[in-house]
Parts: sequence; C-alpha cells; structure tokens
Amino acid sequence: MRDFDEHNITAAVVERLADTSDPRLKQILTSLVHHLHAFARDARLSFTEWSYAIDFLTRTGHICSDKRQEFILLSDTLGLSMLVDAIDHPASAGATESTVLGPFYVTSAPELRLGSDISGGLRGEPLYVEGTVSSSDGRPLADAVVDTWHSDDEGFYDVQRPDLSTAALRGRFRTDANGRFYFWSIVPRFYPIPDDGPVGEMLKATARHPFRPAHVHFMISSRGHDTLVTHVFSADSPYLDSDAVFGVKNDLIREFTHEPPGTAPDGKIIEQPWRRLSYDFGLKQARAPAAHR
Ligand code: BEZ
Ligand code: FE
Repeated sequence: MRDFDEHNITAAVVERLADTSDPRLKQILTSLVHHLHAFARDARLSFTEWSYAIDFLTRTGHICSDKRQEFILLSDTLGLSMLVDAIDHPASAGATESTVLGPFYVTSAPELRLGSDISGGLRGEPLYVEGTVSSSDGRPLADAVVDTWHSDDEGFYDVQRPDLSTAALRGRFRTDANGRFYFWSIVPRFYPIPDDGPVGEMLKATARHPFRPAHVHFMISSRGHDTLVTHVFSADSPYLDSDAVFGVKNDLIREFTHEPPGTAPDGKIIEQPWRRLSYDFGLKQARAPAAHR
C-alpha cells in the first residue's frame, strides 16, 4: 500500500505490527501507535513543533548519566510515573500506599543496627523515626528490610553533595521480632527536583515550580510480600498540594511531632528539643505465582 494520508496511516502502521510474536508487546505497540497518532491529529502538530520535541528528547537523553535520569524526571513531572504506580499498585486494605521511587535511591546503602544515627554528622534538628512493618492481615513481620533515605536540612541528598565522601541520611535496617524499627536522623527539608535541564525548561515554560514537600523515603521488603516503595511526608511542609511529581497521598502525611529534651523512646538522653516520626507500614501479600499447566 502507498499514498498514506492523515486518515489511513494509523491503520497501516498497526497492520505492520501483525507478525509481532509477543502478544503483550503487540498490544502495547498497537495502543502506542493509536494514541501517538491521535495526539498529533488532536494537537494539529506542525513539523517545526515535532522537530522541537525531537530535540527536547535528544537533550533529555544527553543529560542522563549514572547519577542523573532525566527521562524518569520527565515521566514524574508529567504525572506518568504516578499513573503507572496507580495502575500497577492499586490501594488494598491493610497495605500502605506507594509513591514514586525518585532518582536518589542507591542500592548500596549501609546495613545498620536498629537505633543507629544515619545523620553522618550533618547539622539539623534531631529526628527519631520509628514504626512497625506488618502484613496486610495485621501480622507483624520480623526481619523485614527497611531501606530509608532523605534530604538534609537544606534539601540536598548525600549524592548531590560533592563534599561528602560517604553515605549519609540513608541506611538499611531489619525489623526486630515484633516487626519494629527505629533510628535517628535529622529533619529533612523540602527541595527542588533537578531543574537545570530539559525538564526544568518545561517547568519554567509552563509556569510550574520544581519543589517537592519534605519527606522520608522508604523501600520495605519481606518474604512473601510485594516490596513497598513509598515516602512519609511532613504535615507542616510547604508544597503538599503542589508536589512537582504528584506523589502526595493523604495517608502518607504525618506530623513530625516536637518533643522536649529528656529521655527518648530508645533510652537515649537528649539535651535539645527533637522531633518524632512514627509510621506503621502494611505490606501486601504477594500473589501466588500462576500454576504451570
Ligand atoms: C525524590 O523524592 O527523591 C524525587 C522523586 C521524583 C523526582 C525527583 C526526586
Ligand atoms: Fe525525595
């Protein structure tokens, strides 16, 4: 077939996918072609505009490195990451809601004893973080892995600070026999997502700010359960209603309560005011793998 025009080209491209052997790939590509073509028709896209978009995506790729993932940032700021998260991790009774992973997770966080201080000596208001990990049926989960990371009191992650040579404000803990975990850190601050690249250009062009409300990240895993990727947001932070990546959910907001000097829950004597964050997490039980015929 030849002479493709606005009205027949979509069906022709879809037909070209007919021999795709993987049925799921065929379904995804067919849907993508339909929606991409519909978008171009709906926006009455000019060639100049499409060339700009190609250049934008090229620059998005060029700025990526092992420390920066601009495509994820683009997906996050367009709400696509949270949409896929909502589709793939629907709310479920007894299970904590998930949110975006973000680019500052590292796989090599130090494994630490319960009660450790992860502040790495950085200045800030002391924060005691405590909680439990349970299965969605309420059973406490011992030996669950609680991986945590967060920004400092100026809004930077350790990987964004060239002056730091070791990990700080991140660590990996294991829950005790009662499913409990606790550690010390400092209160995180809200921060701008990296906005000196193409994504920042898009935010500026659309009169959007780049900020995320203050939060502590958690990735929690336990045998027989889906890994939970989430954050707990500070109730008194700005930007809860305008998070640049659409990641805030009401159930993930907590007061980081103000506490007087004295004896902390882990028995530590603390001579200055401190803050306390408590959160009990629920993990969804993993679906049994489909039986093979
Ligand atoms: C974060 O919370 O670390 C984050 C999430 C999405 C984009 C940028 C940062
Ligand atoms: Fe973050």
